[in-house]
Amino acid sequence: MAKKKSGIPMGLERGNLPEGEEKYEAVREMFDRIAPRYDLVNRIMTFRLDVRWRKKTVKALSLPPESIVIDLACGTGDFCVELEKAGMVPLGFDFSFGMLEASRSFSQLSQADVLRLPIRETAIDGVTCGFALRNLTELPAFFEEVSRVLRPGGRIGFLDVAEPENRLLKWGHHLYFDRIVPKVGALISDKSAYSYLPRSFSYLPPYQEIITMIERAGFGQVERKLFAPGSAQLFTGEKI
Ligand SMILES: C[S@@+](CC[C@H](N)C(=O)[O-])C[C@H]1O[C@@H](n2cnc3c(N)ncnc32)[C@H](O)[C@@H]1O
Repeated sequence: MAKKKSGIPMGLERGNLPEGEEKYEAVREMFDRIAPRYDLVNRIMTFRLDVRWRKKTVKALSLPPESIVIDLACGTGDFCVELEKAGMVPLGFDFSFGMLEASRSFSQLSQADVLRLPIRETAIDGVTCGFALRNLTELPAFFEEVSRVLRPGGRIGFLDVAEPENRLLKWGHHLYFDRIVPKVGALISDKSAYSYLPRSFSYLPPYQEIITMIERAGFGQVERKLFAPGSAQLFTGEKI
């Protein structure tokens, strides 16, 4: 991918968002770059709500202690920490070595593309994925890969950003994510990455489409829940 002198990948600034292989490389490079301050910016940006949302996701998995749960696109391993607290056995996978290196989790984390997991069929009890659906290049292929490694009855919890439905909240949400977050991100971390963040929302299909994709990959009881103030959504379901 072409780079500016500053090292900022072209395509992650203003203008068109990359797709396919170009997106894959740009996203990986971006997370490698912002990894050291990723957790700090997340906590500030969400007023620590991200921690609460992950806790709720782990609870919604409704799996017993000792369950083997893989956290896909695990980043710095925040979900693994919550899964450990719930007595589960988490394994994290992410393609950004920078994010894995910045982890403070004690779980086993491995570098892998979540579209090609080094795991045999039906070996896993549960899967979590936080704030990464919009960063993936092929969502249906991702859900199929999750379905391949999950045992029948295995559970999923996919957490991602959302847009509040209430008009006033939606206005406040856009003001915050489109104007304030990029400035805070630029100040503490990386200008180009945090101006990409609000634009990356547009990669995420409407929730009804996501539910249909998950069902088509072999899941039942698929549900979507909005977390207050409507800035995060959780998809849960069970492998048939
Ligand atoms: C916004 S971060 C989320 C990190 C973490 N899940 C969390 O809850 O904070 C998105 C993560 O997705 C990872 N990612 C994106 N595409 C990936 C892929 N194809 N395979 C593995 N990891 C991927 C990035 O490296 C990054 O760590």
